[in-house]
Amino acid sequence: MSFLGHFQIFLFLYALLLLSAQSRKTEHDTESSDDGAEGTRWAVLVAGSKEYENYRHQADICHAYQILRKGGLKDENIIVFMFDDIALNPKNPKRGVIINRPGGEDVYQGVPKDYTGEAVNVENFLNVILGNESGVTGGSGKVVKSGPNDNIFIYYADHGATGFMSMPTGEALYAEDFIKVLERMHLLKRYKKMVIYIEACESGSMFEGLLKTNLNIYAVTASSAEESSSGIYCGYTYPPSPPEYNGLCLGDEFSVSWLEDSELHDMRKETLKQQYQVVKRRTRSSHVCRFGSEELLNDYLVSYIGTNPENKNFSLAALTASQISNLSLVNTREIPLLYLRKKIQNAPVGSPERQEAQKNLIDEMNHRKQIDQNIIEILRLSLNQSNVLDLLTSTRTTGQPLVDDWDCFKTLVKSFKNQCGAKMEYGMKYAGALANICNMGVDVKQHLHRQGNKTQTFFWFPSILSPFLGSQDTAAYTRYVCPDISLAFVLATDMTFLVHFGVDELPG
Ligand SMILES: *[C@@H]1O[C@H](CO)[C@@H](O)[C@H](O)[C@H]1NC(C)=O
Ligand SMILES: *[C@@H]1O[C@H](CO)[C@@H](O)[C@H](O)[C@H]1NC(C)=O
Ligand SMILES: *[C@@H]1O[C@H](CO)[C@@H](O)[C@H](O)[C@H]1NC(C)=O
Ligand SMILES: *[C@@H]1O[C@H](CO)[C@@H](O)[C@H](O)[C@H]1NC(C)=O
Ligand SMILES: *[C@@H]1O[C@H](CO)[C@@H](O)[C@H](O)[C@H]1NC(C)=O
Repeated sequence: MSFLGHFQIFLFLYALLLLSAQSRKTEHDTESSDDGAEGTRWAVLVAGSKEYENYRHQADICHAYQILRKGGLKDENIIVFMFDDIALNPKNPKRGVIINRPGGEDVYQGVPKDYTGEAVNVENFLNVILGNESGVTGGSGKVVKSGPNDNIFIYYADHGATGFMSMPTGEALYAEDFIKVLERMHLLKRYKKMVIYIEACESGSMFEGLLKTNLNIYAVTASSAEESSSGIYCGYTYPPSPPEYNGLCLGDEFSVSWLEDSELHDMRKETLKQQYQVVKRRTRSSHVCRFGSEELLNDYLVSYIGTNPENKNFSLAALTASQISNLSLVNTREIPLLYLRKKIQNAPVGSPERQEAQKNLIDEMNHRKQIDQNIIEILRLSLNQSNVLDLLTSTRTTGQPLVDDWDCFKTLVKSFKNQCGAKMEYGMKYAGALANICNMGVDVKQHLHRQGNKTQTFFWFPSILSPFLGSQDTAAYTRYVCPDISLAFVLATDMTFLVHFGVDELPG
């Protein structure tokens, strides 16, 4: 062996020695920092909705901020996303104030306005958690500048659907994109441990079958992948929101459960597992679920959200007793209807407010009926089968991700929203049905067709083409699916049939 060969072996052994010393050191660090004293605690809070009727999401987020601040986290380490159209909204009976429970204190005071209005979007959110300063636009520019010793807490309250959560502007946050970013953060050693709490309908679908258990990430969701979550402190629940709020919901069930638990107790003595159990018991309308690394379950919450020194008289008895009395809850998707009904009730007979609320209620109910019919028609046409009622929600079983082909799913979700007017509050409850279309082997390819200055979108559903092959008469195959939109089978120039799931014009 040459001198060079020996030298290389020496270098190799030396490197091994260094590495093993390094790994012993890392182990030691891990042990000593479970009290949260080492490393920095970072938090990202996101309210993904806007408009006064969705008051509760921003209220939840502001409340979380107050708990983190009292818990000892610094403003420079807390990043808040909220549209910020609630506190000063003309409809708000307490102008400049946001409360998260009846008679509760103002939670809006002092909340940093890092990302508000249009800056509350998915690109900013993902770049903020990645610590990518050059990727954010608008807002304070604050990002999570975390390293391998830091813990990150993410809390998101919003409207959700199977496979995604909305943002007040732009695209939704899809489970696949979120998970990819989390995996990248793990690879780049951007954190030691991470805890994620999500309040949204079908929030379990953000992690089900997707979040690996070896990333040191522990996630809790308000509901399983297949159920909606619930509002709380509404006009129809006990205890109700004060009458001047006209039936508005002040919070969400899962969120209020963990927030009220955290603000009462000593977080140095409560583990993630204990909080999970308390919150699961208090959240009665949906199944609170947990995902990811079980090793984090025995960590004390102080390592993520801090603790309020005033709470040091904590006892486990108090923890188990902390149940809201006899509250009744409102399924999130029913909230807009109940809100309008309460508004009608509270407005004087014959008043313009009452008439407007009545009209809005009728419009909303008709819209929902239309959406119910549209999705059935879309399933029938794309799958070429008449009995589709079992396919209205996702047919994937526990432990499986919602879809394998996320591009297919995203394409259908966008079209259902843009062309059929499906909104987060109701129509998107059928996102699972759209996922089924992708999972049943329908090849949903998006074809862009430019006509004049207009771009049309087509989807190719080969399963339903054969009956139409040989015919040139496109008009015969136009089926009206969405209110103003035709679902037509169009003979394209390349002699394949395309399903025209979109705008009103057929290509010339
Ligand atoms: C940061 O964001 C910009 C803009 O989105 C992107 O081009 C860039 O690749 C990102 N950098 C990293 C490290 O992710
Ligand atoms: C904690 O308990 C002690 C003794 O019971 C009491 O004197 C003290 O006021 C309590 N502190 C708080 C912050 O409640
Ligand atoms: C809940 O308790 C309140 C006050 O005790 C009572 O007025 C209300 O009827 C109860 N609601 C239910 C659903 O039991
Ligand atoms: C594009 O379409 C719009 C709306 O139909 C029209 O007003 C505009 O003149 C068109 N522009 C061009 C360049 O054709
Ligand atoms: C659609 O379903 C009908 C009835 O089951 C069947 O006869 C036809 O072949 C199917 N079409 C395609 C393209 O699979």
